[in-house]
Amino acid sequence: MAKNLKYQILIADDEPAITVGLAELLQLEGYETTTVSDGKDALKQIKEKAFDIALLDLVMPGLDGLQVLTEIKKIGLPTTVIMISGKGSTEATVKAIKSGAYDYLDKPVDPNRLRTIIAKALEHQSLVIKNRELEQEIKSLSRYEEMVGQDDKIHEVYHLIEAVADTSANVLITGESGTGKELVARAIHKKSSRVEGPFIAINCSAFPRELLENELFGHEKGAFTGALKEKPGCFEMADGGTLFLDEIGEMPADTQIKLLRVLEEMSFRRLGGTKEIKVDVRVVAATNRDIQKAIKEGLLREDIYFRLSVMEIELPSLRERMSDLLPLINEFLKIFNDRNNKEVKGFSPECLEVLRKYHWPGNIRELKNLVERTVILCEGDTIALKHFPKHIFTATQKESGESIELGRELHEIEKDVIFKTLKMTRNNKTKAAQILGISLKTMHNKLNKYYIEDDDP
Ligand SMILES: Nc1ncnc2c1ncn2[C@@H]1O[C@H](COP(=O)(O)OP(=O)(O)OP(=O)(O)O)[C@@H](O)[C@H]1O
Ligand SMILES: [Mg+2]
Repeated sequence: MAKNLKYQILIADDEPAITVGLAELLQLEGYETTTVSDGKDALKQIKEKAFDIALLDLVMPGLDGLQVLTEIKKIGLPTTVIMISGKGSTEATVKAIKSGAYDYLDKPVDPNRLRTIIAKALEHQSLVIKNRELEQEIKSLSRYEEMVGQDDKIHEVYHLIEAVADTSANVLITGESGTGKELVARAIHKKSSRVEGPFIAINCSAFPRELLENELFGHEKGAFTGALKEKPGCFEMADGGTLFLDEIGEMPADTQIKLLRVLEEMSFRRLGGTKEIKVDVRVVAATNRDIQKAIKEGLLREDIYFRLSVMEIELPSLRERMSDLLPLINEFLKIFNDRNNKEVKGFSPECLEVLRKYHWPGNIRELKNLVERTVILCEGDTIALKHFPKHIFTATQKESGESIELGRELHEIEKDVIFKTLKMTRNNKTKAAQILGISLKTMHNKLNKYYIEDDDP
């Protein structure tokens, strides 16, 4: 707590003599006090105001001290609790300490003991707060909701989610395929006051126009041939919650016009219906298209864009947050080891080198799939290059800046490529042969042909 603020102490006791007496003593010590005479009031106050310490009488009308303490612990409030115990309440006092009370004071209260207990409790309290802050910091450093990541670029995203979650603003999430747009949408929902409501996701590219509108707005019985029963759409299902419109850039123009009206008025009619249905839905949309280009090309209406992008969150590609490569790998190793009953520890150094060079067009989804595939293929505890799909090498080799000088004989070029691959694999011929897609025997034959001494490992 800030130094210039007074410590806040709550005193709850049904005997006015006690509350008044304690309040006077504590005020003289420079503390700010609030007094209540029953447990219900005490809990209400503690929920509303961040008290540093609560002095709770064990025996009070409404909720007793122990019940208030239990609630405080259940909710996870940081207030330090000291019990005030009268005669004959030893058992309850012991119970209270076991349930997490910091200490207790006997009635009648001894002013000296009160002073020392409060001072000690405040010290304890500041440690608790510090720990919590640290915990929060660490949490926000390495993961946020379902997302793993500690790169500055992804921290920026966490901050935006925090800032926007509890507002009613619609959000547009942009970013390449596989960067985690759906996870962001879910995090926004979870962090919002709509968390108890539904989270409904619909992929706008997965349906032709009529079906998409049917999914979004639902239909009445008999709206079209085959509409035997009425069907509520996503907007109705998401009432009180969040609707995630994925791949909004693929939504047909006519449907966008209908969507615009819903966004503006939060009311619509089912297909074939006449009744206006009012809903309370927060819309989060996502696209992996270049938004400005999509607007220019007429794929996305500008008015829809403005409605949806009250807040825009742009997700970085994996290439732009390579400091998260290892934490992500470790997360996925954990998941796929568990799922496949394996104990793979990690990737070999050569593998990591390739992974760092690779350009990750499919971003985190591609990395996740690669870890899954290699964990399944790996027999030992370390994933090796041979477990990698070939296209990863081809791509990294292209990116490594190797170029083939033209005007040379083919066998010269071949020799060059073989030597360079051997260099990359630190002279491991088995690995080099795998990368080049030839058998070990062919590799040996070729090396013999080049008069290379064959010292196979
Ligand atoms: N930061 C992250 N930490 C852990 N897993 C992640 C993270 N980001 C994405 N993933 C995982 O990667 C996969 C792809 O994420 P998601 O579906 O959210 O991407 P997307 O941006 O919606 O992709 P698309 O545009 O192709 O729909 C999911 O399996 C998701 O769990
Ligand atoms: Mg997605």
